[in-house]
Amino acid sequence: MELLDFARGPALQFGLYAFVIGTVWRLLGILLLAAKPDHSAPRKRGGILAALKVISSRSVTAREFRQDTLYASVLGYVLHIGLFVIVFLFVPHILFFKGLIGLEWPGLPNNVIYFVGVITAGVGVALLLRRMTHPVLKLISNFDDYFSWVVTMAPIITGLIIPIRFGIRYETLLAIHILSIAVLLTWLPFGKLAHAFLVFFSRGTTGMVLERRGAKT
Ligand code: HEM
Ligand code: HEM
Repeated sequence: MELLDFARGPALQFGLYAFVIGTVWRLLGILLLAAKPDHSAPRKRGGILAALKVISSRSVTAREFRQDTLYASVLGYVLHIGLFVIVFLFVPHILFFKGLIGLEWPGLPNNVIYFVGVITAGVGVALLLRRMTHPVLKLISNFDDYFSWVVTMAPIITGLIIPIRFGIRYETLLAIHILSIAVLLTWLPFGKLAHAFLVFFSRGTTGMVLERRGAKT
């Protein structure tokens, strides 16, 4: 079997199944945790609105810390917006989604995507350097942080190599690109990259608990 057939077929299929089943498994594991009894009288109700409020308010750093965290926040936002644009607004990717779910939408010109790709890759490197040199961040970073960085960057780097070619066959480069996506999909639900969906539950819970205690959010 050609490498591309293997990547497009069993490898990508395994990644997609691992992603869906892993996500459901982690969410069930958390949602089915028995809630600890809380005997204190609630100051407020702590409902879904309190959850939504903190999910959105924590997307902006509190004014007191804004100056000190500006560099990391800007890098973080550029990384995520860049990833979103590359994955969902590149025409070959949109055609992939059309084949997968039957829906399509307009994309951006290829040159714009390559530009965003290079910026996103650069920002990824800056985040890694920061992690390795920041006195606190380097102490609290473990294998999961570095491996998650590698599997996030791999599809961007292998994607950016496709138009350059380096004399390698298009099919081989595309196969490597797809294999890197299969690895990302397989890892995403199990390590820290699961923050992509868990972030809403952790912030939501914080919002509900704080409002119940009558704290200002
Ligand atoms: C700037 C970075 C990137 C470039 C230039 C790029 C480029 C490409 C190209 C040229 C194809 C081939 C389409 C075809 O011939 O069928 C492709 C396929 C694909 N890429 Fe990317 N890519 C990039 C980043 C990413 C990222 C970050 C992801 C996901 C995390 C991703 C996911 C995919 C998927 C799912 C396919 C479809 C594979 C298939 O045809 O079966 N790509 N990409
Ligand atoms: C809606 C989805 C997502 C949300 C809300 C989200 C949110 C966040 C937040 C709040 C951080 C911490 C930023 C900081 O410390 O300054 C972060 C870091 C990170 N995210 Fe996401 N994320 C999402 C999806 C993703 C996805 C899909 C990927 C990869 C495929 C990803 C890769 C990363 C990486 C690698 C970091 C670490 C950056 C660093 O070294 O500081 N995220 N994300």
